[in-house]
Amino acid sequence: MDKKDWLKKGFVDESVDSSIDLRKEIDRLRHEKNAVILAHYYQSGELQDIADYVGDSLALAQWAAKTDADIIVMCGVHFMGETAKVLCPDKKVLVPDLNAGCSLADSCPAEEFAKFVAEHPDYTVISYVNTTAAVKAVTDVVVTSTNARQIVESFPHDEKIIFGPDRNLGGYINAVTGRQMLLWDGACHVHEQFSVQKIIELKQQYPDAQVLAHPECKGALVKLADVVGSTAALLKYAVGSDNKNFIVATESGILHEMRKKCPEKNFIPAPPEDSTCACNECNFMRLNTLEKLYNTLKYEWPEIEVDRAIAEKAVRPIHRMLEISAELGL
Ligand code: 13P
Ligand code: SF4
Repeated sequence: MDKKDWLKKGFVDESVDSSIDLRKEIDRLRHEKNAVILAHYYQSGELQDIADYVGDSLALAQWAAKTDADIIVMCGVHFMGETAKVLCPDKKVLVPDLNAGCSLADSCPAEEFAKFVAEHPDYTVISYVNTTAAVKAVTDVVVTSTNARQIVESFPHDEKIIFGPDRNLGGYINAVTGRQMLLWDGACHVHEQFSVQKIIELKQQYPDAQVLAHPECKGALVKLADVVGSTAALLKYAVGSDNKNFIVATESGILHEMRKKCPEKNFIPAPPEDSTCACNECNFMRLNTLEKLYNTLKYEWPEIEVDRAIAEKAVRPIHRMLEISAELGL
């Protein structure tokens, strides 16, 4: 093994013997090492199926906060691993591929955000969980798409609020709550890609189909959606609904759990503008594979590291989110 090469690549670049039963080995390693595997709904179906827990970003943070495992393997993107590490500084937090970033988190560089916050000293800072730990360190309360609206509404109506970094989620909350939060101008490249026109055409083909949209989608799409919510909220709606057809405007990984839970229903992934690419898949999320998960457990690398001073500041707004969510029964 050449660790220097791994460092350069950001994952364990070790070919896995094809005679190995990967699922069995992953299972053996996780028990041997007292590791818990957490996976986001945007991971491939095979990663979701092998994980101990599958959920949205709020659930991943909640599980990380309460696990007694020694190792947390986060099958998700970097900020999800960082959140787990900030919550559990003494545990080893691994991600199968360190290159699994997030365009939304990247749209909010910590130094620029800190400057913006400093320019508005009388504002409360609410940040989406899709941010680096350094951004969370200058935040008053973190939110996810599951609790964002309710957490914003827990502040007085005239509270001056900075909301970052997603302009679409922030714009949606402003619209439904009648607030005028100051928005950071960031966005997710996957959710901005969905084509309103193609969804309208699909609706002509399936007139009874309901459009389920994540609030990271552009305002025009959110306006035509029947249901707007986090991955967990869209899944919950689909399970409880009597409808048969759904057009799903979020990363297509969620369809795996939707189809598993509702095999009799029809889930149609919303098409992106550019139909020559699979733009409704998050290229960052999809960097994680079963082979990389196996290698990560085997070599206990790559490990997420967060500067102690930043982590000590970032943990406060995350705890605040977890406390408010518990009070709200989320
Ligand atoms: P959820 O909060 O629904 O898990 O969304 C996370 C995410 O990255 C959306 O793009
Ligand atoms: Fe980030 Fe978008 Fe990927 Fe979610 S789908 S992890 S917001 S890049």
